[in-house]
Amino acid sequence: MTNPNSHPGAALSQDQLKTLVGQAALQYVVPGEIVGVGTGSTVNKFIDALASIKGQIKGAVSSSVASTERLQALGITVFDSNEVEALSVYIDGADEIDGQGNMIKGGGAALTREKIVAAQSRKFVCIADESKLVQTLGQFPLPVEVIPMAAQRLMRQFAAMGGQAQVRLNDGQPLVTDNGQIILDVTGLQISDPLAFESQVSQWPGVVTVGVFAFQKAQVCLLGTASGVKTMTF
Ligand code: 5RP
Repeated sequence: MTNPNSHPGAALSQDQLKTLVGQAALQYVVPGEIVGVGTGSTVNKFIDALASIKGQIKGAVSSSVASTERLQALGITVFDSNEVEALSVYIDGADEIDGQGNMIKGGGAALTREKIVAAQSRKFVCIADESKLVQTLGQFPLPVEVIPMAAQRLMRQFAAMGGQAQVRLNDGQPLVTDNGQIILDVTGLQISDPLAFESQVSQWPGVVTVGVFAFQKAQVCLLGTASGVKTMTF
């Protein structure tokens, strides 16, 4: 029998790989329950696929205004995270994922709410194309959501550990997150111990959320590759 997720010989675009993993994630959605939904272009593919089974779920808890708007436009009920004690599964993308399921997230500036929804979920299923798989986290600029009054001091703290931090801009102005804060993007880091790094930076006054997800790492990664969807478990 032909494996529908296998595409031997076909050169799939990054967009097609995102569609594939977005659809493959449906198998982790538990009928009758509320599903945790992340943010980003890969998750948008998942949301579109989720609409096809919306009658089988109660709804979603969303990690951003953008995802909430997309879910609601497709007729999926969105619950406040405070209304839900625990979620079976959280589906989200990543900017980088390593071979242990640790991730860098926040390229879409939604890292704080993503970490909150991930923390209330029993399983994190990461959906990503194969360009996101790395040996060591740190090639992608690390997003850190911060309180604006702490920005300069935090930039100096990253410089002291060998990183270069910049305030993320949007139309020439500091980008403001869904939580009213700003983002620093830090380059030049090699994050060889993600748990230790996340613990350390999370304690710096003024840091709202660091975009290393080691405490809330993925248990499963559906990776879109040239030969189809590869499932990694951690
Ligand atoms: C948003 C995120 C996204 O999951 C991450 O940026 C990946 O996005 P995409 O699927 O568009 O590549 O962390 O804050």
